[in-house]
Amino acid sequence: MSQNQTLFERAQRVIPGGVNSPVRAFRAVGGTPRFITRGDGAYIYDADGQRYIDYIGSWGPMILGHGHPAVLEAVISAAREGFSFGAPTEREIELAEEILKLVPSMEQVRLVSSGTEATMSAIRLARGATGRSKFIKFEGCYHGHTDALLVKAGSGLATFGHPTSAGVPEEVAQHTLVLEFNHLAQLEEAFLLHGKQLACVIIEPIAGNMNFVRTQVAYMKRLRELCTEYGALLVLDEVMTGFRVGLASAQGHYAKLIPGFKPDISVFGKVIGGGMPLAAFGASRDIMKHLAPLGGVYQAGTLSGNPVATACGLATLREIQKPGFFEALSAKTRSLVDGLAAVAKENGVPFSVDCEGGMFGFFLMDQLPQEYQTVMTTDKARFNHFFHAMLDAGVYLAPALYEAGFVSAAHSQADIEATLAAAAQALR
Ligand SMILES: Cc1ncc(COP(=O)(O)O)c(C=O)c1O
Repeated sequence: MSQNQTLFERAQRVIPGGVNSPVRAFRAVGGTPRFITRGDGAYIYDADGQRYIDYIGSWGPMILGHGHPAVLEAVISAAREGFSFGAPTEREIELAEEILKLVPSMEQVRLVSSGTEATMSAIRLARGATGRSKFIKFEGCYHGHTDALLVKAGSGLATFGHPTSAGVPEEVAQHTLVLEFNHLAQLEEAFLLHGKQLACVIIEPIAGNMNFVRTQVAYMKRLRELCTEYGALLVLDEVMTGFRVGLASAQGHYAKLIPGFKPDISVFGKVIGGGMPLAAFGASRDIMKHLAPLGGVYQAGTLSGNPVATACGLATLREIQKPGFFEALSAKTRSLVDGLAAVAKENGVPFSVDCEGGMFGFFLMDQLPQEYQTVMTTDKARFNHFFHAMLDAGVYLAPALYEAGFVSAAHSQADIEATLAAAAQALR
């Protein structure tokens, strides 16, 4: 029996499903999850000693690859000074300043420990600042596992949502209106019906939780206008896209296409922690003044702004600001997705790809889907076959067809070529 199997059986005795986050269990693709022993640059190694080219990168944070020397040094040095104090440190200010310098839509930021915590707090802040309860989210977008966000659409626009998870009371879901992604007429109608009751709209600007689906530019523009018109706050969840699709994040990308575009509240995670538990939400001073201890919206955390996590995040943010970083990363990601598309074409496999910065998606269909239902029409058996063939060849892709992929600065052209050679075999 392989070490991975032995560990998986042992894990299942003490951890529900053997994992601490469901997607790791390989349920969508079948087979035994790999237990990772270490990472080095673009590679991770499993308990059987097998090496994989890593396109998950801890689901986004590892933009520099594993064990980047400058980050490692910063973390070790911070750990020597102390793990946690539960009192303010200068490094929190430094990280906040660094983030604000790169994201001009925010004047202040609050640090937390996970994306879930950040989106939960952003929704509470929006509700506290507007005095309204209801909000809109979109089918296929994931914002962490807060009760009010684990919601699916009710029947039509007149009824609010239903829980997608056991344990979430119906009452909690009843303030969440779930709309189809990129469906303009539905958005207009929802605002006509409920606009004045909406605290906010929360959206992934490029939805990485349905693989890789961009908010259409006209849709984003209209969404911004409607929020302003009705006094609802626009919350961009950039936990995945933040400092991943570009130094200015997805909001910078949309600001180039929509003059004057900016969200009211932004949420970050993943890259800003460089692999350590760290996330953030931020907005104008006028909105952030509602947070305790200044205002009445309560929000707190024992490990918030943790000194080791902030050291890791700061070192990561400093590296990605070096000249040419994103140009090189984008070019590498582009060469991967173009190569995959070419290999698929040679083999007559329906395939479409998209990418931005170090984040990419591919679909086993001719055209890029624009919303969740179409994403889910993917030929699952074909995807699973492709996933396992790639894994056997030492290429670790996301083990679910609705997840994005990530390229790091540590991936070499040789890694990309090895990936394309494996894909050519897998798609044959
Ligand atoms: C867009 C988005 N928001 C929020 C979250 C939740 O973050 P976390 O897993 O750190 O709680 C995720 C997690 O993948 C995410 O992709």
